[in-house]
Parts: sequence; structure tokens; C-alpha cells
Amino acid sequence: MPEIAALAADPSPLDRRLIVDGVPFTVRALRTEDAAALVLFLSGLSGGSRRFWHGATGHAAEATGWIEAIGRYDKLRLVAHPDDHPADLAGVADLSFSLPDHAELARYADYGLPLDPDRTVRWGPCVANAWQGRGLAAALLEPAWDAARLLARDRVVLFGGVHRDNHRARRFYLRHGFTEAGTFTTDDGPGIDMTRPI
Ligand SMILES: CC(C)(COP(=O)(O)OP(=O)(O)OC[C@H]1O[C@@H](n2cnc3c(N)ncnc32)[C@H](O)[C@@H]1OP(=O)(O)O)[C@@H](O)C(=O)NCCC(=O)NCCS
Repeated sequence: MPEIAALAADPSPLDRRLIVDGVPFTVRALRTEDAAALVLFLSGLSGGSRRFWHGATGHAAEATGWIEAIGRYDKLRLVAHPDDHPADLAGVADLSFSLPDHAELARYADYGLPLDPDRTVRWGPCVANAWQGRGLAAALLEPAWDAARLLARDRVVLFGGVHRDNHRARRFYLRHGFTEAGTFTTDDGPGIDMTRPI
């Protein structure tokens, strides 16, 4: 996608500075030099967090795939780290700007809530366990919505929905303006699709 390639060449429009729980944070696009930090982030997640976000595939292979994908396909990944610890990733958010026919697009159509694939972004956040409950995911919302607006998106759907038993995430999404669109079944159990305008 040309807009994603352009942001890979110059990611500065995505840069944000935030204060989270009293700590100055940088939010920016994932970059090639983050490979080792990304492996540390993924391998540091608890089994529970990993189960709810991308499953339990190999950390190194996953990180390599994400680095190789920078600027090439439909994905944009934002990372957050304390200003003075750039290798200490505390949060990552996936944004996907393409909607395959068989996934969210088909499910939302079944719910009677058809999505416009040109105006919709898929999004999924994950916060390092040590940072959960400190307001980081909430602070990462506006930077993600700003990125989505840069690509002319005005609706967000959860990327892959949310597991029905991920109560913490479900409460977080409801508190931040998402509504439930419908439920679906996966090999890994029941999921809930949630969406909001941005
Ligand atoms: C779901 C998830 C993204 C939420 O991230 P988070 O950073 O913990 O979210 P926040 O801190 O903004 O909000 C969570 C809680 O912290 C509280 N909180 C917010 N700011 C706070 C602060 N400064 N100090 C203490 N608590 C705070 C919120 O009130 C909220 O409380 P509640 O859970 O009792 O309602 C995170 O738990 C996570 O990454 N989970 C694992 C992966 C996952 O499930 N991803 C979603 C896949 S669909």
C-alpha cells in the first residue's frame, strides 16, 4: 500500500510524546532496529497475555516477520517505550489497513453491520505485563486513531475480535467507546467482535 510505504520511509507523522503513570513515553512506528527489543517484548509476555494476542507462535519468527513486513504490506505497528529506554518496549499496537473477505468483513456482514473496507482499520493492542493497569493502553488510543485517520479511516474493528474470556480487555474496550457487534467461534474458543467510530 503506497501510504504504508510512505510512512515507512518517513514515520515522523506517527511520533507522539505522552506521560503514562508519571513516566515520559515515546510512541512511534516499529522500525528495523527494534528486532531484538521486539523479541524481548514478546518473550516477556505472560502465557495469558500471549494467548490473547497472536497466540503462542515462536517469538523470534514472529518478530522477524513483523520487521520484514515494515512498509511492505497492509500493516502498521506502533510501539511505546519510556523516552530514556528505547529498547524497553512497553506496548505494541497492530493496525491493519486491509480486510480479507473471509474474516471481519464477512462476520460484520453477517451481523447486518457491513463494513466499508476503504474506511475501516483493524486494531489490536498489547501491553507488557509490568505496564498493565497503568493507563498505557488508554494513552495509546489517540496515537492509533491519528494513524488511522492519516489513511482516511473512520471506523476501527478489533483485529480478530476479543476472546470471550478476556474480561479485562472487554471492559477496557467498552470503557473506551467500543460496542459489541456480534459473536463468532474459532478453534481457540468463542470470540466477540467490537467496533467504534474514530
Ligand atoms: C487489554 C490491555 C491492552 C489493557 O491495557 P492496560 O494498559 O492494562 O489498560 P489501562 O491501564 O489503560 O486500563 C486498564 C486498567 O488500569 C486502570 N488504570 C488506568 N490508568 C491507571 C493508572 N495511572 N494507574 C493505575 N491504574 C490505572 C484502568 O482504570 C483499568 O482498570 P480496570 O481494569 O480495573 O477497569 C492489556 O491488559 C493487555 O495487553 N492484555 C494482554 C493482551 C490482550 O489481551 N490484548 C487485547 C487482545 S483483544
